[in-house]
Amino acid sequence: MKRQLEHACVFGLGWGDEGKGKVVDLLCPGFDVVVRYNGGANAGHTVCAGGETFKLHLLPTGVLHENAVGVIGPGVVVDPLALIAEIDQLAARGIDVVPRLRVSDRAHVVLAYHKIEDQLSEKAAGEAGKIGTTSRGIGPCYADKMRRTPAVRMADLMDERDLAPRIRALVEAKQAAFRAVYGTDGGLAFDAVMSDVQTARSRISGVVCDTTAYLHEAMDSGRSLLFEGANGLLLDVDHGTYPFVTSSSTGPNGIGPGAGVPPTVVRRLIGVCKAYSTRVGSGPFVTELKDAVGDRIRERGKEYGTTTGRPRRCGWFDAVACRYSARIGGATDIALLHLDTLSEFEEIGVCVAYRCEGITLRTLPASLSQLEACQPVIEFLPGWSGDLSGVRHFAELPTNAREYIERIEALVGVPVSIAGVGPDRSQTLVRGELQRIVTPPEPVGSRE
Ligand code: GDP
Ligand code: IMO
Ligand code: MG
Repeated sequence: MKRQLEHACVFGLGWGDEGKGKVVDLLCPGFDVVVRYNGGANAGHTVCAGGETFKLHLLPTGVLHENAVGVIGPGVVVDPLALIAEIDQLAARGIDVVPRLRVSDRAHVVLAYHKIEDQLSEKAAGEAGKIGTTSRGIGPCYADKMRRTPAVRMADLMDERDLAPRIRALVEAKQAAFRAVYGTDGGLAFDAVMSDVQTARSRISGVVCDTTAYLHEAMDSGRSLLFEGANGLLLDVDHGTYPFVTSSSTGPNGIGPGAGVPPTVVRRLIGVCKAYSTRVGSGPFVTELKDAVGDRIRERGKEYGTTTGRPRRCGWFDAVACRYSARIGGATDIALLHLDTLSEFEEIGVCVAYRCEGITLRTLPASLSQLEACQPVIEFLPGWSGDLSGVRHFAELPTNAREYIERIEALVGVPVSIAGVGPDRSQTLVRGELQRIVTPPEPVGSRE
């Protein structure tokens, strides 16, 4: 029997890869439906349990739980080929997600030309100017959506009338635009796009539906929803370190537009962060450690991108940025992961303010050049030693680790309800009300 909780959201407080997949997986037993509302296959959410590791990009993490329905909402940009590949990979491991999957007919479709444009525009921007995107066509697809034409939604793919001429006109317009801007069409070909469209139609038509109506009916019948944010609030298109951001609303503020559910129904907002900071791709990073300490965090934390394999930039915990994100996202709880990674450091830095042109700042400036000029004001706390991977309760943590958590709570202004001491589902400490919904560990995807 499910322990019903208010509808909840798990979202990233940093620049992504905070461990959202792990937290969603942990909380899943308390929810009926897990909903992606933003981003696309740029996400890479890792779940480690029962000796197995899963990396999900488009599918909501909840589909690994046999009783959960996974919904991909209207705000997600869906690459049908990436989705099919993920469905097939899980099927090969004995998990059939199709009967429990719903994809919004309002969701925009990522096609080959979006991925080509992503690569062409990054190349044209050069090393200094590029965003360092995941090359998944995310920005170009959201740009087409906002321009309104020429955009393709799932509902359009499902409507066969004039489909081929519509796609042909679209491809020809993109080829001309690419040639004009980049001097090449990047190898874009109508036949290849049309073949992808037909594959999508034949493989995923059955899961495309009105997910907005589905979610409202689910709520009316007392079922609980868990919203799975992708990316992180510092990558949010409005609130992040623009222009080094992704193209969607990554925090709970994205739930309204991205799922068609009023944000007021979501009361529990769990912001996920690591006990230090990481960033993959370009852009300002005030607490970055470009030295042996940063390298040590990267090696201990295995900080390499889940989607692209790129080494992640590492630095001390940034309480200024975390408080900024937690306030925008309305975090009621913090999940603070990777405490184990910080073991054996003699002292641990926490950024409590920024210094910029002689001024002390306690929030993020909008100006990119100002943010890039900021120096961190670092407070050092004593570190702790020992292997934390077997710790299961907050009270068992070394005193200095508990004091580190208390300092973060005070600086950010939100309680730490979940802490991570290793990648596995079982290596998670939970306290307070959230404990009610965390069931004893069971193997991922355990099926009859
Ligand atoms: P997401 O995108 O927010 O879901 O995060 P990712 O899955 O991209 O990256 C988080 C990484 O940290 C994954 O490799 C997780 O397995 C790992 N991880 C999560 N929590 C912990 C933790 O508490 N300790 C350690 N050592 N690894 C963790
Ligand atoms: P999850 O959900 C880490 C970053 C990219 C790049 C910028 C724009 O796994 O936390 P995009 O391809 O979205 O146009 O890239 O955003 N980025 C992420 N970094 N984790 C993610 O997702 C990310 N999604 C986008 O590296 O800097
Ligand atoms: Mg990730």
